Amino acid sequence: MEQIKAIRGIPDILPEEIDYWHYFEAIWKTLIERYGYNEIRLPLLESTSLFKRSIGEATDIVEKEMFTFQDRDNASISLRPEGTAPCVRAAIEHGLLHNQTQRLWYLGPMFRYERPQKGRYRQFYQIGVEAFGFSGIEIELEQLFLMWRLWMELGLENDIQLQINNIGTFEARQHYKQQLVDFLKPHEDKLDNDCKRRLTTNPLRILDSKNPEIQALLNNSPKLQDFLDTESKENMQQMFLALQAMGIPYSVNPHLVRGLDYYNHTVYEWVTDKLGAQGAVCAGGRYDGLVQQLGGAKTDAVGFAIGMDRVVLLLKQRLLPPMLSDIFLIGQGERAKMETLLLAEQIRTHLPTLKVLVHCGLGNFKSAFKKADKSGAKLAIILGETEIQEKTIGIKYLREDKSQVTIQRLELILFLQQYFQK
Ligand code: HAM
Repeated sequence: MEQIKAIRGIPDILPEEIDYWHYFEAIWKTLIERYGYNEIRLPLLESTSLFKRSIGEATDIVEKEMFTFQDRDNASISLRPEGTAPCVRAAIEHGLLHNQTQRLWYLGPMFRYERPQKGRYRQFYQIGVEAFGFSGIEIELEQLFLMWRLWMELGLENDIQLQINNIGTFEARQHYKQQLVDFLKPHEDKLDNDCKRRLTTNPLRILDSKNPEIQALLNNSPKLQDFLDTESKENMQQMFLALQAMGIPYSVNPHLVRGLDYYNHTVYEWVTDKLGAQGAVCAGGRYDGLVQQLGGAKTDAVGFAIGMDRVVLLLKQRLLPPMLSDIFLIGQGERAKMETLLLAEQIRTHLPTLKVLVHCGLGNFKSAFKKADKSGAKLAIILGETEIQEKTIGIKYLREDKSQVTIQRLELILFLQQYFQK
């Protein structure tokens, strides 16, 4: 019978990888609590019009990447390609934005019909953060500091660099767009098909083009920075000073415009050169117009989203599987096998933070020790016929250059408490 396989670009996350996800999520949850953000859980399905109105009709995501279908009542539904628009929708719908500020975060799968490759999937996971009702640049900085702290806690601060830009107000961009189009029009024959199309649909995205000939052409184009108002320029300088004060390395990327329409002023991406073509690990910025655009009152907003799959790929390059087991129990002989199960329960009761594995299988000592080693445990606890008769326990140090010791069975819990307290 033909085997049914997973859908292309929609991967399983296997048990061998899950420790990395748990490790990342545990660090994240503690960190985000410390910054006073609250979790919001959002649905996977939304009305298609939500994304058209927010991300923009002429963006890649809406034009060609959404999983959209008619439901049984003929309503157009989409699997969410991102979380900002759903978060804004929910905040307006439940009155979370009336005369109050909100710091929210969410985590979950997003869906985009992109060409799958390493680090780019059709179902991928994001952690998103959105703050509403804050007008000053302090909130952008708070979020950038938070991200930097996350990279440091994950040990990834040398793998990820911040690129930042200011795309100004809506009016400044409109004015600039016209100048850019006027500049590019006479060179239309040099543009690739994508850029030709964008000349009428979304000219700013041409700045983002990876095509070297187009980048060469853009060297002489008008620059968005020259169209910014004084306040935007001053804000940008202040942000740079604060980043320097925190010791966060950054570079200004004047071509960074982002692929979603809702941004104004600050935009940024944290990028890596460790994952081939999929360099963006985290991205975000300010989007003061979106709440109003989706039917709410005018509300300033700033946020970002982390591509979790990409962070996990970076973690795998850096770390041995984290959160491995602590103790591995091996029993040889029928009685000893039963005893190891009971001992494991006793350890779990008295040392509830330890991860305890029991061999639970056939095979000789040699193969059991191989499994113990692979489990990552620090100690193997050994119980054979002799140990049962003498009421003792063998302890083998799996990660240290120390000889095996034998202790009294009654001393085990105390021994483990002392050992794992170190
Ligand atoms: P985005 O740049 O579209 O922004 O996505 C954010 C991150 O999600 C990317 O930097 C990348 O790491 C990850 N990502 C995107 N597409 C894929 C994919 N196909 N496979 C794997 N990872 C992917 C947003 O989504 C905005 N909502 C961010 C935001 C929040 N802005 C303000 N608030």
